[in-house]
Amino acid sequence: MHSFLMSHQPRWQVALEMLALGFILAIVCGSALIYTGAYDVAATRRHWPLTEWLLDTARIRSIKARAVGITPPAGLDDHAKILMGTEHYADHCAVCHGAPGVPKGDIAQGLYPQPPDLAATSKRYTDAELFWIVKHGIKMTGMPGWADHDDDELWATVAFLKMLPGMTPEDYAKLVMQDMSHGRQHHEGHDAQPQPGMVQPPGGTDHDHPAGHQH
Ligand code: HEC
Repeated sequence: MHSFLMSHQPRWQVALEMLALGFILAIVCGSALIYTGAYDVAATRRHWPLTEWLLDTARIRSIKARAVGITPPAGLDDHAKILMGTEHYADHCAVCHGAPGVPKGDIAQGLYPQPPDLAATSKRYTDAELFWIVKHGIKMTGMPGWADHDDDELWATVAFLKMLPGMTPEDYAKLVMQDMSHGRQHHEGHDAQPQPGMVQPPGGTDHDHPAGHQH
């Protein structure tokens, strides 16, 4: 063993010193990057591909790990559940994610990362994972957590998300109309105002009284 040594210091000690030096250098450079303001936090500037990969991988791994142990309730395919989820989605989600035939709202245009088209991406997740995302939101993105809403309502939103792939604008409008004519339950006071992304019944904006709508 000793015949391999070039200096009087044991090899592990040299390695340890190099490691410590590297560590100190990383801290100095990292601090300089932060304290000089060199890192650009502008939402108009994309991440480097490596940073993007890192954030993406961390997000997906975190969601998958945290959703383990969440069991979806029975009856997510019930039409009543899907209608409840449609209402929740139209009121709270379409403004950022859009909906079939409904473009994203203004707020969503400048967000980075961009709110994805959930018809395309929700298939990547299980029901439990979707529930976790909707309940807790995603840090350092525009995705809010909805933990102050009933779990029942959040599961209904998951029921809606599962129907989203392949849903046509007509299907969506029909669901919204059906929900309205079943009488919208108001969960919050501000629901009285039309929200961006909401489909209004033709011929009027008073969604409490969708007179003349049959389904
Ligand atoms: C203020 C804008 C905003 C609102 C409102 C919003 N989201 Fe999001 N959402 C985002 C953003 C931004 C992301 C992307 C996060 C990322 O890329 O890391 C996201 C991500 C998601 C994802 C993960 C998708 C993926 O591809 O990984 C799901 C699922 C989701 N949102 C569902 C919802 C639901 C359901 C609602 C309504 C209850 C909602 N969002 C409301 C901005 C929003």
